[in-house]
Amino acid sequence: MKQDLLSFAMFSPDQLMGYLELAQEVKNQPQRYCQALAGKSVVGLFEKPSLRTRVSFDVGINKLGGHFVYLDSQNDKLGARESLKDMGANLSRWCDAIVARVFSHQTLIELADASSVPVINALCDTYHPCQALADYLTIKETLGDVRNAKIAYIGDGNNVTHSLLLAGALLGADVRVITPKGHDVNQTVFQLAAGLAAQHGGKVSQSHDIALATGCDVIYTDTWISMGAGSRYEDIAPIFMPYQVNETLMQNSGAQFVMHCQPAHREQEITSAVMDGKGSLLLDQAENRMHAQNAILINLLG
Ligand code: CP
Ligand code: NVA
Repeated sequence: MKQDLLSFAMFSPDQLMGYLELAQEVKNQPQRYCQALAGKSVVGLFEKPSLRTRVSFDVGINKLGGHFVYLDSQNDKLGARESLKDMGANLSRWCDAIVARVFSHQTLIELADASSVPVINALCDTYHPCQALADYLTIKETLGDVRNAKIAYIGDGNNVTHSLLLAGALLGADVRVITPKGHDVNQTVFQLAAGLAAQHGGKVSQSHDIALATGCDVIYTDTWISMGAGSRYEDIAPIFMPYQVNETLMQNSGAQFVMHCQPAHREQEITSAVMDGKGSLLLDQAENRMHAQNAILINLLG
Protein backbone atom coordinates (compact mmCIF):
# COMPACT_ATOMS: atom_id res chain seq x y z
CA MET A 1 0.00 0.00 0.00
CA LYS A 2 1.50 3.32 -1.03
CA GLN A 3 1.51 6.09 1.56
CA ASP A 4 1.03 9.81 0.92
CA LEU A 5 2.07 12.80 2.99
CA LEU A 6 -0.76 15.32 2.69
CA SER A 7 -0.79 16.47 6.33
CA PHE A 8 0.23 15.14 9.75
CA ALA A 9 -3.39 14.62 10.82
CA MET A 10 -3.16 10.82 10.61
CA PHE A 11 0.37 10.52 12.01
CA SER A 12 1.27 8.99 15.35
CA PRO A 13 3.82 10.76 17.57
CA ASP A 14 6.26 7.86 17.09
CA GLN A 15 5.92 8.05 13.34
CA LEU A 16 6.57 11.79 13.29
CA MET A 17 9.49 11.47 15.71
CA GLY A 18 10.88 8.74 13.42
CA TYR A 19 10.79 11.17 10.47
CA LEU A 20 12.56 13.78 12.58
CA GLU A 21 15.27 11.37 13.68
CA LEU A 22 15.82 10.16 10.12
CA ALA A 23 16.09 13.78 8.92
CA GLN A 24 18.79 14.38 11.52
CA GLU A 25 20.64 11.25 10.44
CA VAL A 26 20.43 12.10 6.73
CA LYS A 27 21.84 15.52 7.57
CA ASN A 28 24.67 14.13 9.70
CA GLN A 29 25.61 11.17 7.49
CA PRO A 30 24.81 12.13 3.87
CA GLN A 31 27.18 9.48 2.49
CA ARG A 32 25.06 6.70 3.95
CA TYR A 33 22.06 7.83 1.94
CA CYS A 34 23.66 8.95 -1.32
CA GLN A 35 22.12 6.02 -3.24
CA ALA A 36 18.85 5.85 -1.31
CA LEU A 37 16.85 7.00 -4.36
CA ALA A 38 19.10 5.49 -7.06
CA GLY A 39 17.07 4.87 -10.21
CA LYS A 40 14.03 6.73 -8.84
CA SER A 41 12.35 9.72 -10.44
CA VAL A 42 10.18 12.28 -8.68
CA VAL A 43 7.98 14.83 -10.43
CA GLY A 44 7.26 18.22 -8.87
CA LEU A 45 3.99 19.92 -9.87
CA PHE A 46 3.85 23.59 -8.93
CA GLU A 47 0.67 25.68 -9.20
CA LYS A 48 2.32 28.44 -7.15
CA PRO A 49 5.80 30.00 -7.18
CA SER A 50 8.63 28.66 -5.01
CA LEU A 51 12.30 29.17 -4.26
CA ARG A 52 13.07 27.00 -1.23
CA THR A 53 10.72 24.10 -1.93
CA ARG A 54 11.60 23.72 -5.57
CA VAL A 55 15.37 23.95 -5.10
CA SER A 56 15.54 21.90 -1.90
CA PHE A 57 13.56 19.03 -3.47
CA ASP A 58 15.61 19.10 -6.67
CA VAL A 59 19.01 19.32 -4.96
CA GLY A 60 17.97 16.97 -2.15
CA ILE A 61 16.79 14.24 -4.54
CA ASN A 62 20.03 14.60 -6.46
CA LYS A 63 21.99 14.08 -3.23
CA LEU A 64 20.06 10.81 -2.71
CA GLY A 65 20.99 9.60 -6.21
CA GLY A 66 17.54 10.24 -7.69
CA HIS A 67 16.15 12.46 -10.42
CA PHE A 68 13.66 15.36 -10.23
CA VAL A 69 11.39 16.64 -13.01
CA TYR A 70 9.89 20.12 -12.49
CA LEU A 71 6.53 20.98 -14.01
CA ASP A 72 4.89 24.35 -13.48
CA SER A 73 1.18 24.82 -13.96
CA GLN A 74 1.85 25.64 -17.63
CA ASN A 75 -0.18 28.80 -17.38
CA ASP A 76 -3.18 26.91 -16.11
CA LYS A 77 -4.48 25.25 -12.97
CA LEU A 78 -3.83 21.56 -12.45
CA GLY A 79 -6.74 19.62 -13.82
CA ALA A 80 -7.57 22.17 -16.53
CA ARG A 81 -5.86 20.53 -19.53
CA GLU A 82 -6.70 17.03 -18.40
CA SER A 83 -8.35 15.67 -15.28
CA LEU A 84 -6.34 15.11 -12.10
CA LYS A 85 -7.39 11.46 -12.38
CA ASP A 86 -5.73 11.08 -15.78
CA MET A 87 -2.72 13.13 -14.75
CA GLY A 88 -2.09 11.03 -11.62
CA ALA A 89 -2.51 7.78 -13.53
CA ASN A 90 -0.06 8.82 -16.26
CA LEU A 91 2.55 10.23 -13.87
CA SER A 92 2.41 7.01 -11.82
CA ARG A 93 3.62 5.05 -14.86
CA TRP A 94 6.90 7.01 -15.02
CA CYS A 95 7.54 8.44 -11.59
CA ASP A 96 8.13 6.98 -8.16
CA ALA A 97 6.58 9.91 -6.31
CA ILE A 98 4.65 13.13 -6.95
CA VAL A 99 5.50 16.34 -5.08
CA ALA A 100 2.75 18.94 -5.49
CA ARG A 101 2.32 22.60 -4.52
CA VAL A 102 -1.30 23.52 -5.11
CA PHE A 103 -4.04 25.93 -4.15
CA SER A 104 -6.69 23.58 -2.82
CA HIS A 105 -6.10 20.67 -0.45
CA GLN A 106 -8.82 18.87 -2.41
CA THR A 107 -6.52 18.84 -5.45
CA LEU A 108 -4.01 16.81 -3.44
CA ILE A 109 -6.68 14.37 -2.29
CA GLU A 110 -7.82 13.80 -5.87
CA LEU A 111 -4.27 13.45 -7.11
CA ALA A 112 -3.43 10.98 -4.35
CA ASP A 113 -6.55 8.93 -5.17
CA ALA A 114 -5.58 8.80 -8.84
CA SER A 115 -1.92 7.90 -8.26
CA SER A 116 -0.37 4.56 -7.41
CA VAL A 117 2.75 6.35 -6.12
CA PRO A 118 3.13 8.54 -3.00
CA VAL A 119 1.94 12.14 -3.22
CA ILE A 120 3.76 14.69 -1.04
CA ASN A 121 2.18 18.04 -0.12
CA ALA A 122 4.68 20.78 -0.95
CA LEU A 123 2.18 23.43 0.33
CA CYS A 124 -1.51 23.93 -0.21
CA ASP A 125 -3.88 26.57 1.13
CA THR A 126 -4.43 24.53 4.31
CA TYR A 127 -1.11 22.85 5.16
CA HIS A 128 2.67 22.98 4.69
CA PRO A 129 3.90 19.74 6.32
CA CYS A 130 7.40 19.76 4.77
CA GLN A 131 7.94 23.16 6.35
CA ALA A 132 6.77 21.98 9.77
CA LEU A 133 9.08 18.96 9.72
CA ALA A 134 12.05 21.21 8.89
CA ASP A 135 10.96 23.64 11.60
CA TYR A 136 10.81 21.01 14.34
CA LEU A 137 14.18 19.66 13.20
CA THR A 138 15.52 23.20 13.62
CA ILE A 139 13.90 23.53 17.06
CA LYS A 140 15.30 20.15 18.12
CA GLU A 141 18.80 21.17 17.05
CA THR A 142 18.51 24.56 18.75
CA LEU A 143 16.79 23.68 22.03
CA GLY A 144 17.90 20.04 22.27
CA ASP A 145 14.29 18.77 22.36
CA VAL A 146 10.90 19.55 20.86
CA ARG A 147 8.92 18.25 23.81
CA ASN A 148 7.86 21.25 25.92
CA ALA A 149 9.43 23.72 23.46
CA LYS A 150 7.43 26.93 23.78
CA ILE A 151 6.65 28.38 20.36
CA ALA A 152 4.57 31.51 19.74
CA TYR A 153 3.32 31.91 16.18
CA ILE A 154 2.41 35.57 15.60
CA GLY A 155 0.64 36.85 12.49
CA ASP A 156 -1.81 35.49 9.95
CA GLY A 157 -3.39 32.12 10.78
CA ASN A 158 -2.47 30.13 7.66
CA ASN A 159 -1.17 26.88 6.14
CA VAL A 160 2.18 27.19 7.95
CA THR A 161 0.41 27.77 11.29
CA HIS A 162 -1.84 24.75 10.78
CA SER A 163 1.07 22.37 10.16
CA LEU A 164 3.05 23.88 13.04
CA LEU A 165 0.03 23.22 15.32
CA LEU A 166 -0.57 19.64 14.21
CA ALA A 167 3.08 18.57 14.31
CA GLY A 168 3.66 20.42 17.60
CA ALA A 169 0.63 18.74 19.19
CA LEU A 170 1.98 15.31 18.20
CA LEU A 171 5.53 16.06 19.34
CA GLY A 172 4.54 17.41 22.76
CA ALA A 173 5.38 21.06 22.10
CA ASP A 174 3.56 24.10 23.51
CA VAL A 175 2.30 26.02 20.46
CA ARG A 176 0.61 29.38 21.04
CA VAL A 177 -1.07 31.12 18.12
CA ILE A 178 -1.51 34.88 18.21
CA THR A 179 -3.40 36.52 15.35
CA PRO A 180 -5.31 39.74 14.75
CA LYS A 181 -9.09 39.38 14.99
CA GLY A 182 -10.53 38.03 11.75
CA HIS A 183 -7.27 36.28 10.82
CA ASP A 184 -7.57 33.30 13.14
CA VAL A 185 -6.48 29.81 12.20
CA ASN A 186 -9.06 27.42 10.78
CA GLN A 187 -10.99 26.31 13.87
CA THR A 188 -11.48 22.75 12.63
CA VAL A 189 -7.70 22.39 12.34
CA PHE A 190 -7.22 24.02 15.75
CA GLN A 191 -9.66 21.59 17.37
CA LEU A 192 -7.93 18.68 15.66
CA ALA A 193 -4.59 19.90 17.05
CA ALA A 194 -6.13 20.43 20.50
CA GLY A 195 -7.39 16.83 20.48
CA LEU A 196 -3.98 15.49 19.44
CA ALA A 197 -2.26 17.63 22.07
CA ALA A 198 -4.55 16.37 24.83
CA GLN A 199 -3.86 12.79 23.73
CA HIS A 200 -0.09 13.09 23.36
CA GLY A 201 1.11 15.65 25.90
CA GLY A 202 1.38 18.74 23.72
CA LYS A 203 -0.35 22.05 24.33
CA VAL A 204 -2.02 24.44 21.90
CA SER A 205 -3.64 27.79 22.60
CA GLN A 206 -4.83 30.84 20.66
CA SER A 207 -5.33 34.51 21.41
CA HIS A 208 -5.47 37.96 19.84
CA ASP A 209 -3.22 39.25 22.60
CA ILE A 210 0.55 39.44 22.11
CA ALA A 211 0.98 38.79 25.85
CA LEU A 212 0.45 35.07 25.18
CA ALA A 213 3.99 35.04 23.73
CA THR A 214 5.54 35.89 27.10
CA GLY A 215 7.95 33.23 28.29
CA CYS A 216 8.29 31.49 24.91
CA ASP A 217 11.56 30.10 23.54
CA VAL A 218 10.79 30.91 19.94
CA ILE A 219 8.74 33.50 18.06
CA TYR A 220 7.56 32.33 14.64
CA THR A 221 6.02 34.50 11.95
CA ASP A 222 5.05 34.30 8.28
CA THR A 223 3.80 36.60 5.56
CA TRP A 224 0.61 38.54 6.28
CA ILE A 225 -0.63 37.78 2.76
CA SER A 226 -0.24 34.19 1.60
CA MET A 227 0.00 33.25 -2.07
CA GLY A 228 -3.41 33.52 -3.67
CA ALA A 229 -4.96 35.35 -0.68
CA GLY A 230 -5.53 38.47 -2.74
CA SER A 231 -5.56 41.10 0.05
CA ARG A 232 -3.81 44.44 -0.47
CA TYR A 233 -0.97 45.28 1.90
CA GLU A 234 -2.32 48.83 2.37
CA ASP A 235 -5.64 47.44 3.60
CA ILE A 236 -4.32 44.96 6.12
CA ALA A 237 -1.17 46.72 7.40
CA PRO A 238 -2.96 48.74 10.12
CA ILE A 239 -4.51 45.55 11.52
CA PHE A 240 -1.28 43.56 11.44
CA MET A 241 1.32 46.18 12.41
CA PRO A 242 0.80 45.69 16.19
CA TYR A 243 1.81 42.05 15.56
CA GLN A 244 5.06 42.89 13.76
CA VAL A 245 8.00 40.82 15.02
CA ASN A 246 10.49 43.52 15.98
CA GLU A 247 13.07 44.05 18.71
CA THR A 248 10.51 45.37 21.21
CA LEU A 249 8.26 42.34 20.73
CA MET A 250 11.24 40.00 21.09
CA GLN A 251 12.36 41.72 24.30
CA ASN A 252 8.88 41.76 25.81
CA SER A 253 8.31 38.08 25.06
CA GLY A 254 11.71 37.07 26.41
CA ALA A 255 12.17 34.71 23.44
CA GLN A 256 15.73 34.08 22.35
CA PHE A 257 15.00 32.76 18.86
CA VAL A 258 12.99 33.81 15.83
CA MET A 259 11.71 31.68 12.96
CA HIS A 260 10.06 32.42 9.61
CA CYS A 261 9.42 29.97 6.78
CA GLN A 262 10.30 32.67 4.16
CA PRO A 263 9.83 34.39 1.79
CA ALA A 264 9.99 37.22 4.35
CA HIS A 265 8.85 40.79 3.85
CA ARG A 266 11.33 42.97 5.67
CA GLU A 267 9.81 45.74 7.80
CA GLN A 268 6.36 44.20 7.35
CA GLU A 269 5.82 41.03 9.43
CA ILE A 270 9.47 41.05 10.61
CA THR A 271 12.13 43.73 10.88
CA SER A 272 15.61 43.33 9.44
CA ALA A 273 17.10 43.88 12.90
CA VAL A 274 15.37 40.70 14.14
CA MET A 275 15.65 38.70 10.91
CA ASP A 276 19.40 39.29 10.70
CA GLY A 277 19.94 39.23 14.48
CA LYS A 278 21.77 36.59 16.48
CA GLY A 279 18.64 34.65 17.43
CA SER A 280 17.56 34.18 13.81
CA LEU A 281 16.99 30.56 12.76
CA LEU A 282 15.69 31.41 9.28
CA LEU A 283 18.57 29.99 7.27
CA ASP A 284 18.77 26.85 9.41
CA GLN A 285 15.08 26.30 8.67
CA ALA A 286 15.71 26.79 4.95
CA GLU A 287 18.62 24.32 4.96
CA ASN A 288 16.63 21.82 6.99
CA ARG A 289 13.87 21.79 4.37
CA MET A 290 16.15 19.62 2.28
CA HIS A 291 17.05 17.18 5.06
CA ALA A 292 13.45 16.90 6.24
CA GLN A 293 12.16 16.26 2.71
CA ASN A 294 14.88 13.70 2.07
CA ALA A 295 13.73 11.83 5.16
CA ILE A 296 10.14 11.95 3.86
CA LEU A 297 11.23 10.60 0.45
CA ILE A 298 13.31 7.81 1.99
CA ASN A 299 10.42 6.80 4.23
CA LEU A 300 7.81 6.83 1.46
CA LEU A 301 9.95 5.36 -1.34
CA GLY A 302 12.56 3.43 0.58
N1 CP B 1 9.11 28.23 2.75
C1 CP B 1 8.80 27.94 1.49
O1 CP B 1 8.02 27.02 1.21
O2 CP B 1 9.45 28.69 0.55
P1 CP B 1 9.12 28.72 -1.00
O3 CP B 1 7.73 29.26 -1.16
O4 CP B 1 10.17 29.61 -1.60
O5 CP B 1 9.21 27.33 -1.55
N1 NVA C 1 1.83 31.13 4.08
C1 NVA C 1 2.72 31.32 2.97
C2 NVA C 1 3.85 30.34 3.03
C3 NVA C 1 4.88 30.50 1.94
C4 NVA C 1 5.95 29.47 2.03
C5 NVA C 1 1.94 31.17 1.67
O1 NVA C 1 1.12 30.27 1.55
O2 NVA C 1 2.18 31.98 0.75
